[in-house]
Amino acid sequence: DSSIGQSVGKAHEPLFWVGACTVACVLLWLLYRLLSGFRIWVLGNGSLLTPRLGKWAVVTGATDGIGKSYAEELARRGFALMLISRSQDKLDDVAKLLEEQYKVETKTIAVDFGKADIYGTIEEGLSGLEIGVLVNNVGVSYPYPEYYLHIPNLDNVSFITNMINVNMTSVCQVRSKGVILNISSASGMYPVPLLTVYSATKAFVDFFSRGLQEEYRRQGIIVQSVLPFFVATKMTRIRKPTLDKPTPDRYVQAEVTTVGLQSQTNGYFPHAVMVTILLQYTHTHTHTAKPVQQLVLLLENQLPLPPPLPSITSTWYCIYTSRTHTATTTSTYNSTSANQMHVAAITVSLPSQRCSSPSCCGVCVYLFVFVCSRAG
Ligand SMILES: NC(=O)c1ccc[n+]([C@@H]2O[C@H](COP(=O)([O-])OP(=O)(O)OC[C@H]3O[C@@H](n4cnc5c(N)ncnc54)[C@H](OP(=O)(O)O)[C@@H]3O)[C@@H](O)[C@H]2O)c1
Repeated sequence: DSSIGQSVGKAHEPLFWVGACTVACVLLWLLYRLLSGFRIWVLGNGSLLTPRLGKWAVVTGATDGIGKSYAEELARRGFALMLISRSQDKLDDVAKLLEEQYKVETKTIAVDFGKADIYGTIEEGLSGLEIGVLVNNVGVSYPYPEYYLHIPNLDNVSFITNMINVNMTSVCQVRSKGVILNISSASGMYPVPLLTVYSATKAFVDFFSRGLQEEYRRQGIIVQSVLPFFVATKMTRIRKPTLDKPTPDRYVQAEVTTVGLQSQTNGYFPHAVMVTILLQYTHTHTHTAKPVQQLVLLLENQLPLPPPLPSITSTWYCIYTSRTHTATTTSTYNSTSANQMHVAAITVSLPSQRCSSPSCCGVCVYLFVFVCSRAG
C-alpha cells in the first residue's frame, strides 16, 4: 500500500507543476491582453496626429461618410486639408465647412478614382506640400449584395475595373511619408459571399498596408490598416446609428486614438469584439450551420441562385443584407419593411435551434449584440 502511495505521490507532483504552469501562462496571457486592451482602447494615443508631423493632411473620398469625418477630425487637430474626391461642388462645400468651422487652409482636387489616368493631376496638386497624414479612404462597394456571376456588367469588366481602380490602385498610387491610414474593411479579414470582389479588394488593402508597414517601420513611417465593421454611411445605407454601427464621426474619433499602437486595427472597440468572435468561428467552422440554411431558405425567394452559403459570415451578412436591401429596393423583396425582414430572420434562425454547434453560438452572440444595440 505504501509503495503504491509513494508512486502516486511522485506522479502527482509533476502533473501538479504542469497544471500550475499552464494556469500561470493562461493568466499571464490574459493579463497581457487586458493591459494592451486598456492601453489601446482606454488610454489611446490621441496626441500623435498633430501638425508637427507635417502641415497638410490628405484625405481621399473626403466628401462623405468616413472620409468626411477624417477630414473634420484632422482639421479640428489643426491640419490644413487637401480634399480629393469626385464632385467639385461637394468638395467646395466640405472645404468651406472646414475653413469656417476650424479656420484651416484647404485645397481640393476633383478626380474620379475609377479612372487610371488621374495620378498625374494628383501628383501635381500635392507637389510642394508638407504632408503629415494621408488617409487613403476612397472606396466603393456593390450597389447590393450579389452572386458573382449575376453581377451586372461583369462581362464588359467595368464593374471589376472600377472596383480595382477605386479600392486598390488608389491605395498604391497616392503616397506620402509620415502617417498613412489605409481604409480596408472587416470584410477583408475573411471571405464575404455576395460581396466577394469587394471583400477581396479589401483583403489586398490590408495585406498591402501590413507589408508596407514592415518595409518602412525603421524610417519612422506609420502605415495603419484600418478595418471597420459597419458604419452608418451612404455606402451601407444604414440610417440609424447604433452601438455596433456607429456614426462615421464616432468611429473616426475612436480610430485616431489607435494610430501608432496598432498597425492593423478595427478602430472601434465594439467592432474589435465582434471581429474577434466572428474570426474565431470562421476559422474553425466553415460548415454551413443550420441557422444559416434556414435563413438562406428565407432569402431564397429573393436571391437569384440557390444556397448553400459557406460560412458563418454569411449569416450576419444575410441579416444585414436583408435589412439594407429591403430598405432600399422593396420591389425586389417581398418584405414590406426592413424591420419586418430583420425580425423574420431572427425568428427563423433562433428559436427552433438548440445550441448544438459553436457556429450556432456565434450566431446567437452576434444577434444578441445586434438586438441589444438596437434596443439601446
Ligand atoms: N461604411 C462602412 O460600413 C464601411 C465599412 C468598412 C469599410 N469601409 C470603407 O471605408 C471607406 C469609406 O466608406 P464610406 O462608407 O464612408 O463611403 P461613402 O459614404 O460612400 O463615401 C465615399 C466617398 O468616396 C467618394 N468616392 C466614391 N467613389 C469615388 C470615385 N470613383 N472617385 C472619387 N471619389 C469617389 C465619394 O464621393 P461622392 O460623394 O462624389 O460619391 C465619397 O466622398 C471605403 O473605402 C469603404 O470601403 C466602410
